Amino acid sequence: MKVLLTRRIPSSVFSRLQAVGDVDLYEGPSAISADELKRRLADKQALISVLTDRVTPELLDAAPNLRIVSNIAVGYENIDVAAAKARGVIVTNTPDVLTEAVAEFTWALILAAARRVAEGDRLIRRHGWKGWALDFMLGTELRGKQLGIVGSGRIGRAVAAKAPAFGMTAVFGQRTALDQLLVTSDVISLHVPGGPETRHLIDRKTFARMKRSAIFVNTARGSVVDEEALIWALQERLIAAAALDVFENEPHVREELMTMENVVLAPHLGSATRETRTAMIDLAVSNVLAVAAGNSPITPV
Ligand code: GLV
Repeated sequence: MKVLLTRRIPSSVFSRLQAVGDVDLYEGPSAISADELKRRLADKQALISVLTDRVTPELLDAAPNLRIVSNIAVGYENIDVAAAKARGVIVTNTPDVLTEAVAEFTWALILAAARRVAEGDRLIRRHGWKGWALDFMLGTELRGKQLGIVGSGRIGRAVAAKAPAFGMTAVFGQRTALDQLLVTSDVISLHVPGGPETRHLIDRKTFARMKRSAIFVNTARGSVVDEEALIWALQERLIAAAALDVFENEPHVREELMTMENVVLAPHLGSATRETRTAMIDLAVSNVLAVAAGNSPITPV
């Protein structure tokens, strides 16, 4: 099988792939360009992609031998899944192996926003700390508060499972139950997939429903949130704080978000632990190997 790999992977996993295939590894310092991707994919049967690689109908048409797109991510909004299906191309993702890492990171963001961790760090680094005081940099306590989880998939449930440890009650809501969740939750965390169905699910109207004391957290996809509406809600103090790991136009982050002290920013690190990234890469390669061997993929989308 001819395989295109758009990022370097650990050598142990790479050799598993080489055992069954002829691997074309893109070794550029960052994301492969759309043109380069199209050129290199033309004669391949498998693509191992990451979320910065856009798999469009045009790209698929330019790769007539393609049998599988194995995305090293649980999300797949970078792939036109319907177009792949229409052309008989299998799409796989990497669920489960990253659930705990993303859930842990979500809690890191919730705690950072509630207790002003990043803001305090910035203050010290600019030599701004004048000393301890009773009323200095007070945050908000999590105990007794409600955590509203938008989306009840694996990651949302894993985040909810840790809520009792902080004395929080978790509630879930997506479509009809969303309104109630927005009005009553102290922390609101997104755990829905990206893509057309959830695009701008969180907009001006939804921000306006949130408590003024609400902490808003997004570790899902930037596209789920209308970023201009988020900036508006923060500027108008309709919500208290935001913690964001994903953005509408990564790696671009809007200047307004960078200048607000009550916003915690992370560069898409949800699944970024050594253990989890290794497991994700391993699963993505295993999906290709399964298809190469004529078996069903392990984790098809
Ligand atoms: C990361 O964002 C993923 O979807 O795995």
